[in-house]
Amino acid sequence: MMAKARTAYVCNECGADFSKWQGQCGACGAWDTLSEIVLETAASAKAAAPARRGGWAGKAEAPKVTPLAGVRQADEVRVTTGIGEFDRVLGGGLVEGAVVLVGGDPGIGKSTLLLQAVASMSAALPGLYVTGEESLAQVAGRGHRLGLPLDGVNALAETCVEHILGHAVKLRPRLIVADSVQTLWTETLTAAPGSVSQVRESAARLVRYAKETGTAVFLVGHVTKEGGIAGPRVLEHMVDAVLYFEGDSGSRFRVLRAFKNRFGAVNELGVFAMGDKGLKEVPNPSAIFLSGGSRQPGSCVMVTREGTRPLLVEVQALVDSSPLSNPRRVAVGMEQNRLAMLLAVLHRHGGIATGDQDVFVNVVGGIRVQETAADLPVLLSVLSSLQDRPLADKTIAFGEVGLSGEIRPVPNGEERLKEAATHGFARAIVPKANAPKSGAYKGLEVVAVERLADAIDAAG
Ligand code: TYD
Ligand code: MG
Repeated sequence: MMAKARTAYVCNECGADFSKWQGQCGACGAWDTLSEIVLETAASAKAAAPARRGGWAGKAEAPKVTPLAGVRQADEVRVTTGIGEFDRVLGGGLVEGAVVLVGGDPGIGKSTLLLQAVASMSAALPGLYVTGEESLAQVAGRGHRLGLPLDGVNALAETCVEHILGHAVKLRPRLIVADSVQTLWTETLTAAPGSVSQVRESAARLVRYAKETGTAVFLVGHVTKEGGIAGPRVLEHMVDAVLYFEGDSGSRFRVLRAFKNRFGAVNELGVFAMGDKGLKEVPNPSAIFLSGGSRQPGSCVMVTREGTRPLLVEVQALVDSSPLSNPRRVAVGMEQNRLAMLLAVLHRHGGIATGDQDVFVNVVGGIRVQETAADLPVLLSVLSSLQDRPLADKTIAFGEVGLSGEIRPVPNGEERLKEAATHGFARAIVPKANAPKSGAYKGLEVVAVERLADAIDAAG
Protein backbone atom coordinates (compact mmCIF):
# COMPACT_ATOMS: atom_id res chain seq x y z
CA MET A 1 0.00 0.00 0.00
CA MET A 2 1.27 3.51 -0.85
CA ALA A 3 2.09 5.64 2.15
CA LYS A 4 -0.01 8.78 2.20
CA ALA A 5 2.01 11.78 1.06
CA ARG A 6 2.12 14.64 3.52
CA THR A 7 1.50 18.08 2.10
CA ALA A 8 2.28 21.60 3.20
CA TYR A 9 1.73 25.08 1.79
CA VAL A 10 4.66 27.30 0.91
CA CYS A 11 4.65 31.01 0.18
CA ASN A 12 6.29 31.73 -3.18
CA GLU A 13 7.30 35.17 -1.96
CA CYS A 14 9.03 34.48 1.32
CA GLY A 15 9.29 30.70 1.52
CA ALA A 16 7.44 30.34 4.83
CA ASP A 17 5.48 27.13 5.18
CA PHE A 18 2.10 26.40 6.69
CA SER A 19 0.18 23.25 7.37
CA LYS A 20 -3.13 24.70 6.09
CA TRP A 21 -3.93 26.76 3.03
CA GLN A 22 -4.74 30.40 3.62
CA GLY A 23 -5.36 33.31 1.26
CA GLN A 24 -2.71 35.54 2.79
CA CYS A 25 0.78 34.51 3.84
CA GLY A 26 0.97 34.82 7.61
CA ALA A 27 4.68 35.62 7.44
CA CYS A 28 5.09 38.27 4.73
CA GLY A 29 1.47 39.32 4.21
CA ALA A 30 1.42 38.65 0.46
CA TRP A 31 -1.91 37.53 -0.98
CA ASP A 32 -2.56 34.37 -2.93
CA THR A 33 1.04 33.21 -2.92
CA LEU A 34 0.71 29.86 -1.14
CA SER A 35 1.14 26.73 -3.21
CA GLU A 36 0.68 23.21 -2.07
CA ILE A 37 3.79 21.13 -1.94
CA VAL A 38 4.06 17.42 -1.42
CA LEU A 39 6.47 16.52 1.31
CA GLU A 40 8.39 13.31 1.02
CA THR A 41 6.55 10.12 1.83
CA ALA A 42 8.01 8.32 4.81
CA ALA A 43 9.57 5.70 2.55
CA SER A 44 11.32 8.19 0.29
CA ALA A 45 12.56 10.24 3.22
CA LYS A 46 14.24 7.19 4.62
CA ALA A 47 15.86 6.31 1.33
CA ALA A 48 17.12 9.86 0.91
CA ALA A 49 18.63 10.28 4.33
CA PRO A 50 20.77 7.30 5.24
CA ALA A 51 22.51 9.34 7.92
CA ARG A 52 19.30 9.64 9.84
CA ARG A 53 18.71 5.90 10.02
CA GLY A 54 18.47 4.75 13.56
CA GLY A 55 15.74 7.17 14.52
CA TRP A 56 15.78 10.02 17.00
CA ALA A 57 16.68 7.93 20.04
CA GLY A 58 18.64 5.22 18.25
CA LYS A 59 22.17 4.40 19.26
CA ALA A 60 23.65 4.77 15.81
CA GLU A 61 25.37 8.11 15.14
CA ALA A 62 23.55 9.95 17.92
CA PRO A 63 24.96 13.48 18.02
CA LYS A 64 26.70 14.49 21.24
CA VAL A 65 26.38 17.79 23.07
CA THR A 66 29.73 19.56 22.85
CA PRO A 67 31.00 22.79 24.40
CA LEU A 68 31.05 25.19 21.45
CA ALA A 69 34.43 26.59 22.44
CA GLY A 70 35.97 23.18 21.97
CA VAL A 71 34.62 22.59 18.47
CA ARG A 72 37.30 22.79 15.84
CA GLN A 73 36.63 25.45 13.25
CA ALA A 74 36.02 24.27 9.71
CA ASP A 75 38.72 25.52 7.42
CA GLU A 76 37.26 27.74 4.77
CA VAL A 77 39.08 26.95 1.60
CA ARG A 78 38.40 29.59 -1.00
CA VAL A 79 38.90 29.17 -4.69
CA THR A 80 39.02 32.14 -7.00
CA THR A 81 36.45 32.12 -9.80
CA GLY A 82 38.94 33.86 -12.05
CA ILE A 83 36.58 36.83 -12.20
CA GLY A 84 37.48 39.44 -9.60
CA GLU A 85 34.03 40.98 -9.34
CA PHE A 86 32.45 37.55 -8.85
CA ASP A 87 34.98 36.74 -6.10
CA ARG A 88 34.15 40.04 -4.41
CA VAL A 89 30.43 39.24 -4.25
CA LEU A 90 31.13 35.75 -2.94
CA GLY A 91 33.19 37.28 -0.14
CA GLY A 92 36.65 36.57 -1.60
CA GLY A 93 36.17 33.53 -3.81
CA LEU A 94 34.05 30.41 -3.72
CA VAL A 95 34.13 28.46 -0.46
CA GLU A 96 34.50 24.74 -1.05
CA GLY A 97 31.29 22.90 -0.31
CA ALA A 98 29.20 26.08 -0.43
CA VAL A 99 25.80 26.10 -2.10
CA VAL A 100 25.17 29.34 -3.96
CA LEU A 101 21.90 30.34 -5.61
CA VAL A 102 22.27 32.72 -8.54
CA GLY A 103 18.93 34.29 -9.40
CA GLY A 104 17.88 36.75 -12.06
CA ASP A 105 15.63 37.49 -15.00
CA PRO A 106 15.86 35.22 -18.02
CA GLY A 107 18.53 36.39 -20.45
CA ILE A 108 20.46 38.48 -17.96
CA GLY A 109 23.61 36.33 -18.17
CA LYS A 110 23.45 33.68 -15.46
CA SER A 111 24.46 30.78 -17.71
CA THR A 112 27.21 32.84 -19.28
CA LEU A 113 28.72 33.87 -15.95
CA LEU A 114 28.63 30.37 -14.51
CA LEU A 115 30.10 28.73 -17.59
CA GLN A 116 32.94 31.26 -17.48
CA ALA A 117 33.46 30.61 -13.78
CA VAL A 118 33.34 26.80 -14.05
CA ALA A 119 35.84 26.88 -16.90
CA SER A 120 38.31 29.12 -15.15
CA MET A 121 38.02 27.17 -11.88
CA SER A 122 38.32 23.77 -13.56
CA ALA A 123 42.01 23.34 -12.72
CA ALA A 124 41.31 23.75 -8.99
CA LEU A 125 37.76 22.36 -8.91
CA PRO A 126 36.86 19.88 -11.65
CA GLY A 127 33.34 20.88 -12.63
CA LEU A 128 30.12 19.25 -13.77
CA TYR A 129 27.84 21.61 -15.67
CA VAL A 130 24.31 20.25 -15.66
CA THR A 131 22.05 21.88 -18.19
CA GLY A 132 18.31 21.38 -18.19
CA GLU A 133 17.43 24.23 -20.51
CA GLU A 134 19.99 24.22 -23.27
CA SER A 135 21.45 21.34 -25.25
CA LEU A 136 25.03 20.26 -24.74
CA ALA A 137 25.81 21.62 -28.20
CA GLN A 138 24.54 25.06 -27.20
CA VAL A 139 26.56 25.10 -24.00
CA ALA A 140 29.70 23.87 -25.76
CA GLY A 141 29.14 26.34 -28.60
CA ARG A 142 29.04 29.23 -26.17
CA GLY A 143 32.13 27.95 -24.37
CA HIS A 144 34.12 27.70 -27.60
CA ARG A 145 32.93 31.06 -28.88
CA LEU A 146 34.06 32.69 -25.64
CA GLY A 147 37.39 30.88 -25.89
CA LEU A 148 37.02 29.23 -22.49
CA PRO A 149 39.31 26.44 -21.30
CA LEU A 150 36.81 23.58 -21.34
CA ASP A 151 39.19 20.67 -20.67
CA GLY A 152 38.35 20.12 -17.02
CA VAL A 153 34.61 20.67 -17.42
CA ASN A 154 32.17 17.81 -17.82
CA ALA A 155 28.68 18.55 -19.02
CA LEU A 156 25.43 16.68 -18.63
CA ALA A 157 22.03 17.37 -20.15
CA GLU A 158 19.80 15.93 -17.46
CA THR A 159 17.00 17.08 -15.20
CA CYS A 160 16.38 14.14 -12.88
CA VAL A 161 18.20 14.72 -9.59
CA GLU A 162 18.72 11.01 -8.90
CA HIS A 163 20.46 10.61 -12.25
CA ILE A 164 22.52 13.76 -11.73
CA LEU A 165 23.69 12.58 -8.33
CA GLY A 166 24.36 9.13 -9.76
CA HIS A 167 26.78 10.69 -12.24
CA ALA A 168 28.24 12.91 -9.54
CA VAL A 169 28.99 9.94 -7.30
CA LYS A 170 30.93 8.32 -10.15
CA LEU A 171 32.66 11.42 -11.52
CA ARG A 172 33.34 13.09 -8.17
CA PRO A 173 33.30 16.68 -9.45
CA ARG A 174 34.26 19.30 -6.85
CA LEU A 175 31.81 21.80 -8.32
CA ILE A 176 28.34 21.25 -9.77
CA VAL A 177 26.29 23.84 -11.64
CA ALA A 178 22.58 23.12 -11.93
CA ASP A 179 21.17 25.33 -14.69
CA SER A 180 18.39 25.81 -13.89
CA VAL A 181 16.87 24.60 -10.66
CA GLN A 182 13.40 25.09 -12.15
CA THR A 183 13.98 22.22 -14.55
CA LEU A 184 14.98 19.72 -11.85
CA TRP A 185 12.72 16.97 -10.59
CA THR A 186 13.04 14.04 -8.26
CA GLU A 187 11.61 10.56 -8.65
CA THR A 188 10.36 10.55 -5.08
CA LEU A 189 7.61 13.07 -5.85
CA THR A 190 4.81 12.79 -8.33
CA ALA A 191 4.29 16.55 -8.70
CA ALA A 192 5.04 18.09 -12.11
CA PRO A 193 8.58 19.32 -12.82
CA GLY A 194 8.74 23.07 -12.23
CA SER A 195 6.25 22.94 -9.36
CA VAL A 196 7.34 24.36 -6.04
CA SER A 197 7.54 20.96 -4.41
CA GLN A 198 9.77 19.54 -7.14
CA VAL A 199 12.08 22.54 -7.16
CA ARG A 200 12.33 22.63 -3.40
CA GLU A 201 12.90 18.92 -2.95
CA SER A 202 15.38 18.67 -5.83
CA ALA A 203 17.37 21.57 -4.48
CA ALA A 204 17.30 20.03 -1.01
CA ARG A 205 18.77 16.83 -2.46
CA LEU A 206 21.62 18.74 -4.07
CA VAL A 207 22.24 20.71 -0.87
CA ARG A 208 22.42 17.50 1.13
CA TYR A 209 24.83 15.99 -1.37
CA ALA A 210 26.98 19.15 -1.27
CA LYS A 211 27.18 19.10 2.51
CA GLU A 212 27.94 15.41 2.74
CA THR A 213 30.66 15.43 0.11
CA GLY A 214 32.08 18.96 0.32
CA THR A 215 31.15 19.64 -3.29
CA ALA A 216 30.41 23.26 -4.15
CA VAL A 217 27.10 23.79 -5.95
CA PHE A 218 25.75 26.69 -7.98
CA LEU A 219 21.99 26.65 -8.43
CA VAL A 220 20.66 28.87 -11.19
CA GLY A 221 17.14 30.19 -10.64
CA HIS A 222 14.88 32.32 -12.78
CA VAL A 223 13.01 35.01 -10.98
CA THR A 224 9.55 35.36 -12.36
CA LYS A 225 7.90 38.73 -11.93
CA GLU A 226 5.00 37.59 -9.78
CA GLY A 227 6.98 34.99 -7.86
CA GLY A 228 5.83 32.48 -10.49
CA ILE A 229 4.91 28.94 -9.65
CA ALA A 230 8.39 28.17 -8.47
CA GLY A 231 10.28 31.33 -7.81
CA PRO A 232 13.65 30.57 -6.24
CA ARG A 233 12.48 32.52 -3.18
CA VAL A 234 11.59 29.25 -1.47
CA LEU A 235 15.21 28.16 -1.80
CA GLU A 236 16.79 31.10 -0.03
CA HIS A 237 16.64 29.39 3.33
CA MET A 238 18.47 26.27 2.23
CA VAL A 239 21.54 27.71 0.58
CA ASP A 240 24.67 29.42 1.90
CA ALA A 241 24.52 32.39 -0.40
CA VAL A 242 21.95 34.04 -2.63
CA LEU A 243 23.20 36.27 -5.41
CA TYR A 244 20.90 38.27 -7.65
CA PHE A 245 21.70 39.57 -11.07
CA GLU A 246 20.23 43.00 -11.79
CA GLY A 247 20.40 45.21 -14.82
CA ASP A 248 18.52 46.87 -17.62
CA SER A 249 17.92 44.71 -20.63
CA GLY A 250 18.81 47.78 -22.69
CA SER A 251 22.14 48.36 -21.00
CA ARG A 252 25.18 46.15 -21.23
CA PHE A 253 26.01 46.59 -17.57
CA ARG A 254 25.01 43.94 -15.08
CA VAL A 255 25.17 44.06 -11.32
CA LEU A 256 25.50 40.97 -9.17
CA ARG A 257 24.40 41.53 -5.59
CA ALA A 258 24.84 39.33 -2.54
CA PHE A 259 21.45 39.15 -0.91
CA LYS A 260 22.44 36.57 1.67
CA ASN A 261 25.93 35.22 2.29
CA ARG A 262 27.12 32.97 5.08
CA PHE A 263 30.68 33.54 3.93
CA GLY A 264 30.80 37.24 3.22
CA ALA A 265 29.13 40.62 3.39
CA VAL A 266 25.62 41.12 2.11
CA ASN A 267 24.77 43.83 -0.35
CA GLU A 268 28.22 43.55 -1.87
CA LEU A 269 28.04 44.46 -5.53
CA GLY A 270 29.93 43.09 -8.49
CA VAL A 271 29.71 44.93 -11.77
CA PHE A 272 30.01 43.34 -15.20
CA ALA A 273 29.61 44.38 -18.80
CA MET A 274 28.05 41.97 -21.30
CA GLY A 275 29.88 42.06 -24.59
CA ASP A 276 30.45 39.78 -27.55
CA LYS A 277 33.04 37.86 -25.53
CA GLY A 278 30.73 37.20 -22.60
CA LEU A 279 30.74 38.97 -19.25
CA LYS A 280 33.73 41.13 -18.46
CA GLU A 281 34.27 42.51 -15.01
CA VAL A 282 34.22 46.26 -14.47
CA PRO A 283 36.65 46.71 -11.59
CA ASN A 284 36.20 50.49 -11.42
CA PRO A 285 32.50 50.90 -11.93
CA SER A 286 32.29 54.27 -10.27
CA ALA A 287 30.91 56.34 -13.11
CA ILE A 288 29.00 53.91 -15.31
CA PHE A 289 25.61 54.64 -13.81
CA LEU A 290 25.59 58.20 -15.01
CA SER A 291 23.83 59.22 -18.17
CA GLY A 292 26.11 61.21 -20.42
CA GLY A 293 25.82 64.87 -21.35
CA SER A 294 24.80 67.84 -19.30
CA ARG A 295 22.32 67.53 -16.46
CA GLN A 296 18.67 67.99 -17.32
CA PRO A 297 15.88 69.06 -14.98
CA GLY A 298 14.88 66.11 -12.80
CA SER A 299 18.34 64.61 -12.53
CA CYS A 300 20.53 64.35 -9.46
CA VAL A 301 23.75 62.37 -9.01
CA MET A 302 24.26 60.60 -5.71
CA VAL A 303 27.16 58.75 -4.18
CA THR A 304 25.82 55.46 -2.95
CA ARG A 305 27.82 52.97 -1.00
CA GLU A 306 26.34 49.61 -1.62
CA GLY A 307 28.69 46.93 -0.42
CA THR A 308 32.18 48.13 0.30
CA ARG A 309 32.82 50.80 -2.28
CA PRO A 310 31.28 54.07 -3.34
CA LEU A 311 29.40 54.32 -6.63
CA LEU A 312 28.16 57.36 -8.48
CA VAL A 313 24.57 56.78 -9.51
CA GLU A 314 22.14 59.09 -11.24
CA VAL A 315 18.57 59.41 -9.99
CA GLN A 316 15.99 60.79 -12.40
CA ALA A 317 12.53 62.07 -11.62
CA LEU A 318 9.66 63.13 -13.79
CA VAL A 319 6.87 65.10 -12.16
CA ASP A 320 3.89 65.83 -14.34
CA SER A 321 0.34 67.03 -13.66
CA SER A 322 -1.89 64.01 -13.36
CA PRO A 323 -5.24 63.39 -15.02
CA LEU A 324 -5.97 60.83 -12.31
CA SER A 325 -7.80 61.46 -9.09
CA ASN A 326 -5.24 59.19 -7.47
CA PRO A 327 -1.93 60.30 -9.06
CA ARG A 328 0.73 57.72 -9.72
CA ARG A 329 3.91 57.22 -7.72
CA VAL A 330 6.23 54.92 -9.59
CA ALA A 331 9.72 54.07 -8.36
CA VAL A 332 12.12 51.95 -10.39
CA GLY A 333 15.30 50.93 -8.61
CA MET A 334 14.13 52.08 -5.21
CA GLU A 335 11.31 51.30 -2.84
CA GLN A 336 7.92 52.72 -3.75
CA ASN A 337 6.85 53.28 -0.15
CA ARG A 338 9.99 55.26 0.51
CA LEU A 339 9.11 57.56 -2.38
CA ALA A 340 5.60 58.12 -1.01
CA MET A 341 7.09 58.92 2.38
CA LEU A 342 9.58 61.40 0.91
CA LEU A 343 6.82 63.19 -1.00
CA ALA A 344 4.86 63.50 2.24
CA VAL A 345 7.90 65.01 3.96
CA LEU A 346 8.40 67.40 1.03
CA HIS A 347 4.82 68.59 1.42
CA ARG A 348 4.69 68.82 5.18
CA HIS A 349 8.14 70.27 5.87
CA GLY A 350 9.04 71.88 2.57
CA GLY A 351 5.61 73.25 1.73
CA ILE A 352 5.84 71.76 -1.75
CA ALA A 353 2.80 69.78 -2.83
CA THR A 354 2.82 66.99 -5.39
CA GLY A 355 -0.64 65.70 -4.54
CA ASP A 356 -2.01 66.46 -8.01
CA GLN A 357 1.10 65.27 -9.85
CA ASP A 358 2.25 61.91 -11.17
CA VAL A 359 5.75 61.24 -9.83
CA PHE A 360 8.10 58.80 -11.53
CA VAL A 361 11.56 58.06 -10.17
CA ASN A 362 14.16 55.94 -11.92
CA VAL A 363 17.67 54.93 -10.94
CA VAL A 364 19.81 54.94 -14.09
CA GLY A 365 21.34 51.72 -15.35
CA GLY A 366 18.89 49.25 -13.83
CA ILE A 367 20.70 49.20 -10.49
CA ARG A 368 18.74 49.08 -7.24
CA VAL A 369 19.61 51.51 -4.50
CA GLN A 370 18.51 50.27 -1.12
CA GLU A 371 20.21 52.60 1.30
CA THR A 372 18.58 55.65 2.80
CA ALA A 373 21.36 57.89 1.48
CA ALA A 374 19.21 58.09 -1.66
CA ASP A 375 16.50 60.10 0.14
CA LEU A 376 17.98 63.54 -0.41
CA PRO A 377 18.97 62.99 -4.06
CA VAL A 378 15.48 61.61 -4.79
CA LEU A 379 13.85 64.68 -3.27
CA LEU A 380 16.21 67.03 -5.11
CA SER A 381 15.48 65.35 -8.44
CA VAL A 382 11.73 65.52 -7.79
CA LEU A 383 12.06 69.18 -6.89
CA SER A 384 14.17 69.89 -9.96
CA SER A 385 11.62 68.25 -12.26
CA LEU A 386 8.70 69.98 -10.59
CA GLN A 387 10.37 73.36 -11.05
CA ASP A 388 11.74 72.40 -14.46
CA ARG A 389 15.16 73.69 -13.43
CA PRO A 390 18.35 71.63 -13.49
CA LEU A 391 20.53 71.45 -10.40
CA ALA A 392 23.76 73.43 -10.62
CA ASP A 393 26.27 71.69 -12.88
CA LYS A 394 28.48 69.04 -11.25
CA THR A 395 26.36 68.70 -8.11
CA ILE A 396 26.11 65.52 -6.07
CA ALA A 397 24.02 64.78 -3.01
CA PHE A 398 23.44 62.11 -0.41
CA GLY A 399 21.64 61.96 2.93
CA GLU A 400 18.76 60.41 4.76
CA VAL A 401 15.59 62.43 5.23
CA GLY A 402 13.72 61.99 8.49
CA LEU A 403 9.97 62.25 9.00
CA SER A 404 10.33 65.56 10.81
CA GLY A 405 12.22 67.07 7.91
CA GLU A 406 15.70 66.67 9.34
CA ILE A 407 18.59 65.61 7.10
CA ARG A 408 20.38 62.76 8.80
CA PRO A 409 23.94 61.57 8.29
CA VAL A 410 24.80 58.35 6.49
CA PRO A 411 27.81 56.08 7.02
CA ASN A 412 31.13 56.71 5.26
CA GLY A 413 30.47 60.34 4.37
CA GLU A 414 34.11 61.23 3.85
CA GLU A 415 34.67 58.35 1.49
CA ARG A 416 31.67 59.41 -0.58
CA LEU A 417 32.90 63.00 -0.76
CA LYS A 418 36.32 61.83 -1.81
CA GLU A 419 34.81 59.77 -4.61
CA ALA A 420 32.82 62.78 -5.83
CA ALA A 421 35.94 64.97 -5.77
CA THR A 422 37.92 62.35 -7.69
CA HIS A 423 35.31 62.44 -10.43
CA GLY A 424 35.44 66.19 -10.76
CA PHE A 425 32.22 67.13 -8.99
CA ALA A 426 32.21 70.72 -7.76
CA ARG A 427 29.38 70.86 -5.26
CA ALA A 428 28.07 68.39 -2.70
CA ILE A 429 24.80 68.83 -0.81
CA VAL A 430 25.21 66.61 2.24
CA PRO A 431 23.98 66.22 5.84
CA LYS A 432 25.71 68.59 8.26
CA ALA A 433 27.09 65.70 10.28
CA ASN A 434 28.74 64.29 7.15
CA ALA A 435 30.57 67.52 6.28
CA PRO A 436 34.33 67.16 6.77
CA LYS A 437 35.48 68.38 10.19
CA SER A 438 38.76 69.67 8.93
CA GLY A 439 40.08 70.52 5.53
CA ALA A 440 38.21 70.10 2.30
CA TYR A 441 38.38 68.14 -0.90
CA LYS A 442 40.11 69.78 -3.77
CA GLY A 443 37.66 71.62 -5.97
CA LEU A 444 34.62 70.36 -4.07
CA GLU A 445 32.41 72.84 -2.29
CA VAL A 446 30.53 71.09 0.51
CA VAL A 447 27.10 72.51 1.31
CA ALA A 448 26.09 71.14 4.71
CA VAL A 449 22.34 71.00 5.34
CA GLU A 450 20.45 70.29 8.53
CA ARG A 451 16.82 70.64 7.55
CA LEU A 452 14.84 70.02 4.40
CA ALA A 453 14.39 73.77 3.97
CA ASP A 454 18.20 74.22 3.85
CA ALA A 455 18.41 71.57 1.16
CA ILE A 456 15.70 73.24 -0.90
CA ASP A 457 17.59 76.54 -0.63
CA ALA A 458 20.84 74.85 -1.60
CA ALA A 459 19.23 73.34 -4.67
CA GLY A 460 17.61 76.55 -5.82
P1 TYD B 1 22.46 33.86 -20.67
O1 TYD B 1 23.71 33.64 -19.93
O2 TYD B 1 21.97 32.77 -21.53
O3 TYD B 1 21.29 34.33 -19.70
P2 TYD B 1 20.48 33.50 -18.61
O4 TYD B 1 21.17 32.22 -18.39
O5 TYD B 1 20.46 34.41 -17.41
O6 TYD B 1 19.10 33.34 -19.14
O7 TYD B 1 22.69 35.18 -21.51
C1 TYD B 1 21.90 35.43 -22.57
C2 TYD B 1 22.08 36.82 -23.13
O8 TYD B 1 23.40 37.31 -23.13
C3 TYD B 1 21.64 36.75 -24.55
O9 TYD B 1 20.67 37.78 -24.75
C4 TYD B 1 22.85 37.00 -25.36
C5 TYD B 1 23.78 37.71 -24.42
N1 TYD B 1 25.20 37.36 -24.66
C6 TYD B 1 26.05 38.32 -25.17
O10 TYD B 1 25.66 39.45 -25.44
N2 TYD B 1 27.38 38.00 -25.35
C7 TYD B 1 27.86 36.77 -25.07
O11 TYD B 1 29.06 36.53 -25.27
C8 TYD B 1 26.95 35.80 -24.56
C9 TYD B 1 27.43 34.41 -24.24
C10 TYD B 1 25.63 36.13 -24.36
MG1 MG C 1 20.44 30.33 -18.87
